[in-house]
Amino acid sequence: MRLILLMQFVMCLATAGAQSLWDPSHLAYAKAHAQQPVLAAAISRLVGDADQALLAAAPSVMQKQTTAVSGDRHDYTSLSRYFWPDPTKPDGLPYVNRDGLSNPELDKYDRNRLSEMTSAVTTLSLAWYFTDREAYAQKATELLRTWFLNRATRMNPHLRYAQMVPGVNGGLGRCYGLIDSYSFVEMLSAVKLLEQSKAFTRRDAQQLKAWFAQFLQWMLTSEQGIEESRQANNHSVAYDVQLLSYALYMGNQQVARQLTDSFPSRRLQQQIAPDGSQPYELWRTLAFGYSEYNLQHCIDFCQLARQASTMPTLATLEKAADYLAQYLGKDVQAWPHQQISDWEGKQQELCRDLYRLWLLDGQREDYRRLVDQHLVKQFADRFFLLYYRPTVADQAFAAADVQLRFQMEQVRTARTKTPGTMPRSVNADGTLRMVGIGDWCSGFYPGLLWQMYQWTHDDFWRRQAVGETWHLQDNQWNASSHDLGFMMHIPFGTAWRLTGERSYRDVVVQAARTLTTRFDERVGCIRSWSWGTPERWRFAVIIDNMMNLELLFEASLLTGDQRLRQMAESHADKTLQNHFRPDGSSYHVVDYNPDDGSVIKRITHQGLADESVWSRGQAWGLYGFTMCYRYTRHSSYLEQAQRIADFFLNQHNLPADLIPYWDMRDPAIPQAPRDASAAAIIASGLYELATYSAPSLAARYRDTADRIIASLESAYQPQPRTMQGFLLLHSTGNYPAHDEIDVPISYADYYYLEALRRSQTMR
Ligand code: GLY
Repeated sequence: MRLILLMQFVMCLATAGAQSLWDPSHLAYAKAHAQQPVLAAAISRLVGDADQALLAAAPSVMQKQTTAVSGDRHDYTSLSRYFWPDPTKPDGLPYVNRDGLSNPELDKYDRNRLSEMTSAVTTLSLAWYFTDREAYAQKATELLRTWFLNRATRMNPHLRYAQMVPGVNGGLGRCYGLIDSYSFVEMLSAVKLLEQSKAFTRRDAQQLKAWFAQFLQWMLTSEQGIEESRQANNHSVAYDVQLLSYALYMGNQQVARQLTDSFPSRRLQQQIAPDGSQPYELWRTLAFGYSEYNLQHCIDFCQLARQASTMPTLATLEKAADYLAQYLGKDVQAWPHQQISDWEGKQQELCRDLYRLWLLDGQREDYRRLVDQHLVKQFADRFFLLYYRPTVADQAFAAADVQLRFQMEQVRTARTKTPGTMPRSVNADGTLRMVGIGDWCSGFYPGLLWQMYQWTHDDFWRRQAVGETWHLQDNQWNASSHDLGFMMHIPFGTAWRLTGERSYRDVVVQAARTLTTRFDERVGCIRSWSWGTPERWRFAVIIDNMMNLELLFEASLLTGDQRLRQMAESHADKTLQNHFRPDGSSYHVVDYNPDDGSVIKRITHQGLADESVWSRGQAWGLYGFTMCYRYTRHSSYLEQAQRIADFFLNQHNLPADLIPYWDMRDPAIPQAPRDASAAAIIASGLYELATYSAPSLAARYRDTADRIIASLESAYQPQPRTMQGFLLLHSTGNYPAHDEIDVPISYADYYYLEALRRSQTMR
């Protein structure tokens, strides 16, 4: 077969075929939508990398410190990565194997410079593709000419001295050295793009193809090449990927087909056991790493093969993926073999493999779900440009990433004047409104940071969130506020759920116990405000307070203390009984008589009038009763949440974009201010409510929530790095007090991110 391949190569230099690790239509889409937040982040990083590459000198094989035994500096030479001087020998020769431990002497040879070159060519070519800036193409061309083409600096087209072991075999390389050039595969994908530039001429293309023709001939016919093709492990797969890539680069579909036809029997079935394990990788000290590495190369093969319309069936490969995926998200101790380093890094590589398999297969939704759970989403990473298809939620989180980093800068500055304060909103003069930790909004900022961590799994956000959360710990004894659910359950409850660290749990429990001191047995409710004269109210309970019951339910589950749950249920039952009008709308404040628990009056504080419909109040009710159903499964709570949803969604004053006016009875409508915060809370609540509702109702709730999210995302976001880093414009805090009207507010942002996350996870 080898000879036939060789003849066909020589005959087929004329045309270049499709040959890319990347889907061309995906790249075209990414280029056309470069302004979208995920893509903008990735392109910005790419351009930064390309600008760095512009400044660097062109690497070549002439720069190595140690020449091969041939004496020809044009001969590529490298050291076997895991071989080290023998400490028992005076001259250290021959070197001995320490599997999994890289020898830094590698740098004296060509291996690292080859990587630098291929990486820079790839970066520059992609940067040229996405920006059309010719300087990038010129530099990429210069690098290619220096490494491959210029007589004075070119590498000879073979790897005879690759991965030699000092003191062994007279300085000749080993078959394993052929894997050194694996990065040519990605580089040639980039060259395919570069061929469209002015800088990379037809002559360059012809010469580079001629170089690869010779290189391929050497790979096919040399002893090292033949031996490499016979390896039972990842080496023969990497060898095949290179052959396929070079074949496609030459436009030789016939050769490509021979490789792809034999790949399942020669490689997949030989290397992947029926249980999906890869026995030839499992004896290594980096057994997980090498299993993943081989999987990645198999996927590269399939990706290239697909372009030649000869993709092998993926079933065997998916078994290998399934075998590794069992250990995703677990500690290294769960892996029954060795992995002496880089467990986290390899887990991330596996996520990318699963994503690419999902793209290739189009069927394995379970892979995509695993990726959602475990992939660290640093959107600036090139993976998100080259392979990833961002969702609406990803785009919003990528935009939030930019905004919140800006907000962190603003907060740092503000705290130089008011240490220990938390961001809440934007003042009328445009400055950042910071509040003390006792403010009901103090938990939303750490809550936002936890939302970022939950979505991106990026430890950067976890670290920020941890620091901000502990700022609030003194609130656990703050009996003067009924808002401990907002203030404490959001940051500490989320931290407990995401990290499992007991210290967070303890704070949640203490905060709940503190909240119970506001519970009155006669009224059967938690008292909202402690302020206000007896004429105004004697025992005020506001609809907002439904939200704080989550803290009690959660602490009851954590401790087994039924009293906490009973108080929450009592409060919810009383609210259900007394806060609602027959049409399903709610009052803001119910004033109870603490002597006998009877209702004195029903009024408003933040709405337009006692009988009006304050939008955020409806939102708190909808979200609150849905949450109560989550913990209790009492149908009365579910039905109440559905009644609120029904009223809210059917009211005649709801604008087309579904972002409500601050009060739905304001005669100034349609000139009245909106309340984006109410919309965000409702969207988040509807996603959860949908999970408990019959299919037709559920579909309506999800559709409505999706439309709210789409409106917020398209028309309620500030320009990046403006508005003190808040995510949403147009919320209304306290209209009657002329406070926080049509401004960004932290709780709108918090429930917006929660809704975005739920839009994906509560389907
Ligand atoms: N809980 C206070 C408000 O919604 O404004």
